[in-house]
Amino acid sequence: MINFTTFVVFCFCLYESFSYCKEYTFPNNFKFGVATAAYQVEGAWNTGGKGENIWDHMTHTNPSSILDRSNGDIACDSYHKIKEDVRLLKNLGVDFYRFSISWSRILPSGKTDHINPDGIRYYNELIDELLANDIKPFVTMHHYDLPQPLQEEEGGFLNLKLADYFEDYADVLYKNFGDRVRDWTTFNQPTLICFLGYSGEFIAPMITRKDGGYLCGHTLLIAHAKAYHLYNKRYRASQKGRIGIVQNIFWFEPRTNNIEDLQAAEAANEFNFGWFANPIFSKEGDYPQIMKENIEYASKQEALPKSRLPEFTQEEIELIKGSADFLGVNHYTTFYCSPVEDKSIEIGLFYIPDMNTNCIVDKTAEGSSSSWLKVKPTGFRKALNWIKQQYDNPEVIILENGISDAGNLLNDCLRVNYYNLYLTEMLKAIHEDGCNVSGYAAWSFMDNFEWRSGYTQKFGLYSVDFDDPARPRTPKMSAFVFKNIIRERKINWTYTPDGFRPCERSKIKEEL
Ligand code: NOJ
Repeated sequence: MINFTTFVVFCFCLYESFSYCKEYTFPNNFKFGVATAAYQVEGAWNTGGKGENIWDHMTHTNPSSILDRSNGDIACDSYHKIKEDVRLLKNLGVDFYRFSISWSRILPSGKTDHINPDGIRYYNELIDELLANDIKPFVTMHHYDLPQPLQEEEGGFLNLKLADYFEDYADVLYKNFGDRVRDWTTFNQPTLICFLGYSGEFIAPMITRKDGGYLCGHTLLIAHAKAYHLYNKRYRASQKGRIGIVQNIFWFEPRTNNIEDLQAAEAANEFNFGWFANPIFSKEGDYPQIMKENIEYASKQEALPKSRLPEFTQEEIELIKGSADFLGVNHYTTFYCSPVEDKSIEIGLFYIPDMNTNCIVDKTAEGSSSSWLKVKPTGFRKALNWIKQQYDNPEVIILENGISDAGNLLNDCLRVNYYNLYLTEMLKAIHEDGCNVSGYAAWSFMDNFEWRSGYTQKFGLYSVDFDDPARPRTPKMSAFVFKNIIRERKINWTYTPDGFRPCERSKIKEEL
């Protein structure tokens, strides 16, 4: 005989399609954080001896390149708000804060001819304040904001010499902050830095060379590996930290189960993620085979003397292979792919010509204020499984995940549901599939400058009033929900913080 309570739980479980019964918790050593990037939050663009970077330059010389003609001159003014921001972080209960260091604040010319004392002071104060509050600094060395002189005088990442300048910059960072920073990542989203910045007009420096993305990628991979080996040689023994890289993984699904679509999706995953992950995390190293083949073929068709994709020497392959202690991953959404010859669908938002694949968003899915970002939580689990399979289950730390809205709601149910859904899928990947995910950072700590979309798309847990010179921060409902997730170490679908209206049940939850 079953008693009444068991019966009620049984019914509830059926009602909840069993998901409640399989309520996973975050492993004991799992770490939570929130993320930002220097240009998006710091402001103080020319304060204390900071040099100009490519975003300062682009927003000032070409204001119409930004949707609302805004810039990051002041942004969230985080440069002046260390104490206030760390207090908010402490209140969230995070284990770590992922922020990026502005290369131009440390080295105004991009090179080590002058190390800016105010830059060192600023990040020292931030790091010390975090540590005093038991929050680990998780540092990105480069998040899109290259010093302008390196762009103007050296050609930016098209020039392999940048790998040496990056290594010198990394040296300055290890030397000054490495006694307290244990978690480093070199580049944020190299695929996007290169493809969107050097083969497209999507982000600074808006160069549109067909080979630009690949040349840039080559430089970044060598730069990353140099920074990693430098750490091993000079700092690892005494500082005992670890070095990773942050790769964005959009999940690319086949649009149908046709073999052509399956191959198209695989190509898209390799061109986007494998481009940087294969050289570092695969056993054999080097670029994915499909990239080498497709780009060589296309280059021949164009009668080029050699492939647009540069070749690594064997020595470089060895230098890059294994050059990371963990894999940082940003994930937001899923695209659906078909071969580009399939003219029945329009060309999608994210299109790399050589992959011969066209990937589109699911227009019918719940959206956000970013046209590329639809709510597709199951893609997160699939992406994590793909990483596990391709690269022998490396340690993965999610360093960005989140959703945008227009920023007009403190009762931000879209974001609350998004986090609950995506974290549920991540928990399944950990518990059911054995994916080695050890941490998670929400993007973003607060609303900020969303690159070419300016301040029109808001990703923050905290709202920021950009019309008020004091840039006050106000917690949204999602800040309380995230805090509760960290506190309870599980997803609690029924939690509604005081003063907020409960969210409507996400339809997607019912389908999972
Ligand atoms: C990833 C980028 O790293 C970050 O800077 C950006 O704001 C988010 N995606 C949202 O688009």
